Parts: sequence; C-alpha cells; structure tokens
Amino acid sequence: MKTLSVLLLTLMLTAVLTGQQKKAGDDALGTHPYDAFEKPKACGTACHKDFYQQWQQAMMSQAYTHHWDEIEYFKLAVPHAEKDPKVAGVKAGCNGCHAPLSFMAGDVPPPKPEANSRANESVSCDVCHTITGFAGDTPFNFNYISEPGKIKYGRRDGVVSPVHETRKLDFISNPDFCGTCHNEKSPYGVWVKSTHLEWRDGPYAKEGVRCHDCHMTKAEGQIVSLKPKVPDAMQHLFHGAHDPGKVRGTIEVRIHPDGREVEPGDKVRFTVALFNQKTGHKFPTGSAEERMVWLHVEARDAKGTVYHLPVDKKGFTGEEYTIAANTLAYQDMGIPLNIPDFKGIQRDGVPVGDRIFRLPYLDPQGRMTIMQWNTASQAVDYRIGPRETKLETFTWSVPGTCAPGPLTVKATLNFQKLPTPVTEFLGVPMEEAEIIEVNTHSTSVTILP
Ligand code: HEC
Ligand code: HEC
Ligand code: HEC
Ligand code: HEC
Repeated sequence: MKTLSVLLLTLMLTAVLTGQQKKAGDDALGTHPYDAFEKPKACGTACHKDFYQQWQQAMMSQAYTHHWDEIEYFKLAVPHAEKDPKVAGVKAGCNGCHAPLSFMAGDVPPPKPEANSRANESVSCDVCHTITGFAGDTPFNFNYISEPGKIKYGRRDGVVSPVHETRKLDFISNPDFCGTCHNEKSPYGVWVKSTHLEWRDGPYAKEGVRCHDCHMTKAEGQIVSLKPKVPDAMQHLFHGAHDPGKVRGTIEVRIHPDGREVEPGDKVRFTVALFNQKTGHKFPTGSAEERMVWLHVEARDAKGTVYHLPVDKKGFTGEEYTIAANTLAYQDMGIPLNIPDFKGIQRDGVPVGDRIFRLPYLDPQGRMTIMQWNTASQAVDYRIGPRETKLETFTWSVPGTCAPGPLTVKATLNFQKLPTPVTEFLGVPMEEAEIIEVNTHSTSVTILP
C-alpha cells in the first residue's frame, strides 16, 4: 500500500515536473532565465559566420528593436493593455514572438531598445534551435515548447560540434514550427495573423513546398566557417515584406481593352488580370491590418493629358473597404493615446477609386483598426491567394477632350507596409511607408477623331 502511494506520488511529481518543462504559450511566461540562452554572437563569431550575418540583416534579429515595433508596443499596446482588461495579456504576449527571451524570463515589459538589454536579441539562434515542439493541435500565439540547453536541434544526423551537442529533429523542418509565431489569435478569438494557415490550405502545402523552401533557400555553401561546403546549406534569409526584391514581381499584371478603336463619348472597358505567382500564402499576409496593396490605372492621350480610371464595383459585401475612399478610420488609437472622442485619420492615403486588396480588421465598435490585438471581427477577405488570379475591370467613358491618336493605359500594382496617414500620425520613420511597385503593364487603344 505504502509503496503504491509512493509510486503514485512519484508519477504525479514527474508529471508536474515535465509539465513545467513543457509549458508553452501564455503559460511559458517566466519559465527560463535569460542565462539559459546563448547569445547570437557566440554562435556567429567563429563558427556560423554566414548564417549570423544573414540573420542580422533579417527582421528576425530586429523583431524587438525595429522602430515601428517599438512605437506600436510602447505607444499603443502597453498603454491599451493597462486600460482595457480584455487586452491586458498583450503587455506580456507581444514579447512571446518579438522578444522571446524576455517573455520566458518574465521580464515584461522588457527594457526599451535603447537600454541594449538581451530583449534586443529578438528571435535569436538559440530561441529557434532549442524549440522541440508545440502544445495543442494548431500552432499559434507562441505555443512553441522551449527546452534551452546543451542540445541544439537541426535538420541533420551525426553532426559533431566542439561547443554543443546536436540532434536531428523533424519539427524544425516542419512549417508548424514557423506557425507557432506566424499565426496569431486576438483576445477576441479572431485570427489576426494566419500565414501558416493560409499556406496549409493552399496549393504549396499539397505539393510539399514548405516555408523554408522560399524563405531559407538551399544553396551550396558553408554551415560552419572553415569547414567544407555542403550542397544544401539552408540560407538564413527570412526575407519578406522588408525586402523590396522579394515583393517585386509577386503578382503578374496584364491589362487589355475590349476593343482597339474608340471615339470620344464611347465606353471602353479595360480588364486587368492579377496572378499570384510567387507567395505560398495570401498576398498580403501576416500583419494584414497594415499592409496596403492597391491597383492604380491611368490613361495618357496623344497630347499627354492623364486620366485616372476608378475600378468598376463588383457588388460583394464589404466591398466599400476595398475601394480607396476619403474615409476616417483607426479611431481606437484614441484609447491608448488618451484622445477622447478621437475622430480618426484617413483610412487609405491612396488615390480615391483604386482597388485595394486587403482584409479589414474591425474593433469591438466595428471600425477599422491597425491594433490587431483589438480585433473583434473582420470584414471581407479580398486578398490574392496563392496561384489565384483576380480580374478587375475599369469602364471608361472617353471624354470629349481626349486627343485623337494613341491612348496608353497603364495598370500598376503597389505595395506599402504601413498606410501613409498612420505612419505620419504616429511619427514612424517614413521608410515604413515606402511604396514598392509590385508590377506594371500597359496597353493601348486608338482614339478616333
Ligand atoms: C526563426 C528561426 C531560426 C533562427 C532565428 C535561426 N535559425 Fe538556424 N535554422 C532554422 C531552421 C528552420 C533550420 C532548418 C531548415 C530546414 O530543415 O530546412 C535551421 C538550420 C540551421 C543550421 C543547419 C543548416 C543545415 O543546412 O543543416 C545551422 C547550423 C543553423 N541553423 C544555425 C543558426 C544560427 C547560427 C543562427 C543565428 C545566427 C540561426 N540558425 C538562427 C531556424 C532558425
Ligand atoms: C519565435 C517566433 C518565430 C518563429 C519560430 C519564426 N518566426 Fe518568422 N518572424 C518572427 C517575428 C516576430 C518576425 C517579425 C519581425 C518584425 O517585423 O518585427 C518574423 C519575421 C519573419 C519574416 C520577415 C517578414 C518581413 O516583413 O520581412 C519572414 C520571411 C519569416 N519570419 C519567416 C519565418 C519562417 C519561414 C519560419 C520558420 C522556418 C519562421 N519565420 C519562424 C517570429 C518567428
Ligand atoms: C512559394 C514560395 C513561398 C512559400 C511556400 C511561403 N512564402 Fe512567405 N513569402 C513569399 C513571398 C514571395 C513573399 C513576399 C511578398 C509578401 O511580402 O507578402 C512572402 C512574404 C512572407 C512574409 C512577409 C509578410 C509581411 O507582410 O510581413 C512572411 C512573414 C512569410 N512570407 C512567412 C511565410 C511562412 C511562415 C510560410 C510557411 C507557412 C511561407 N511564408 C511560405 C513566398 C513564399
Ligand atoms: C504570435 C506571434 C506574434 C505576436 C503575439 C505578436 N506579433 Fe507582431 N509580428 C509577428 C510576426 C511574425 C510579424 C512579421 C511578419 C508578419 O507581418 O506577419 C509581426 C509584425 C509586427 C509588426 C510590423 C512590423 C513591420 O515592420 O511592419 C509590428 C509593429 C508588430 N508585429 C507589433 C506587435 C505588437 C505590438 C504585438 C502585441 C500586441 C505583437 N506584435 C504580437 C508575430 C507576432
């Protein structure tokens, strides 16, 4: 009897202990001290020089220090969390993905970037290479299981290192690994980041093309400095929205008219086909609350006069969010910024009448928000899926003033990380609102005299 209860007690204790070790998501707050993790410099100075330099140039190493991240966390998220119990969890939670070391050390809010603390290591080598799995059935909201220590997990068997042990672990090669930080649910239970889910439900997952294959591409190169090259070293590029070269060409754009000769007073209809040839998820993805993708069409007549063509309405529910307008939005920023009855700022900041490919995030009052944690619902998802083609039409009544001769009509698809009005209002450096031309194409018709 006594031995049995001792056995039971031991079993329970082991369960509690391993349970503690395997804490994930919100429960992992304060479970590992800073010292449990190696500094990236230790990995990159003598051994993994190339990976270290690549990582330093990627957003992974700036997830905590990047100017816009700092502004959104300290100016909006923290004050909001202190005022509204519903979103109180984000004060710690943002760090589960952006400053995992501080989150696991229970040091939240972390010291500001200027303090140069270990929070600044952001998503570091040792964060990723000591993740052993995730809790639950769907990866999201930093539900990775972190087991820092001597063993570094990778994709190869039998690798010998003089400074740490290595072990092959299939999980690190699985997109679920990325999903632990690239899917996010708001406190209202809405998916506000779903890059991994979009991928999982799209054509690339079926074909076995992983996140890694597009963002950590294989190349002949060195894994460890001074060691021989291997044919398939995984490049730590993590290039995305912050690399204009990655964004350019993502969508192919073609425009054609429904006839080649028109007279002033006639109607001519242009169709634009937009084919997503490059992303493994939707475009835009991730922080979709703030990404702007819009189609601008302009005609230029023989005398050089330029006419802007607004997009034809299709009539679906929520379409008003997808056509650029002179509308105010983002009123909920007034809560953290202490502006009572805040009227909001311009929603789009792009030419009125242009088509916007977006997923509007709505606050509990149904107004558009860029504070993704305050998202209570979403309107229409009008983004371009992987390998999807969207058609847009532009019907134009040729004005009497249009000069006879050739008329060139140009369609341009633009991308912007943060809407200009938000960037200006919050004092974010203007580089965040840089406009990247994704693609462009022109056609022509003849205006008869
Ligand atoms: C965001 C997570 C993440 C970060 C940060 C990260 N890695 Fe990796 N690393 C990976 C993944 C994922 C793989 C394996 C890819 C695969 O299986 O296709 C990998 C592979 C490796 C490999 C083995 C490469 C091979 O081809 O076998 C080494 C070595 C490595 N990483 C070192 C580093 C170092 C050093 C740093 C920091 C400078 C770092 N990693 C930062 C995710 C990360
Ligand atoms: C521990 C959390 C974590 C894991 C795991 C993780 N990421 Fe990230 N990743 C981030 C964060 C946080 C950022 C955002 C940095 C920023 O802009 O503040 C980011 C940024 C990126 C970007 C750059 C986006 C841009 O705007 O340029 C890419 C691409 C990316 N991750 C791909 C991956 C892939 C592929 C994997 C899996 C191999 C992965 N990530 C695993 C947290 C993570
Ligand atoms: C077929 C190639 C491909 C695959 C597969 C793929 N991506 Fe991407 N990804 C891209 C391209 C191209 C872009 C650049 C366009 C953009 O920014 O949306 C991109 C952009 C991103 C961004 C930046 C989004 C933003 O606006 O900040 C993130 C983060 C990202 N990918 C993560 C992932 C993750 C995680 C997976 C796997 C679940 C994945 N990607 C699978 C091609 C791919
Ligand atoms: C589940 C993980 C996760 C959580 C939680 C999270 N983020 Fe992020 N965040 C990311 C990833 C991944 C990216 C970059 C890629 C993308 O756009 O999806 C990102 C991007 C951002 C960006 C945009 C960076 C840019 O340059 O455009 C900001 C700002 C940001 N996050 C702030 C926050 C704040 C503030 C919180 C807390 C309220 C938070 N994040 C919570 C994962 C997370």
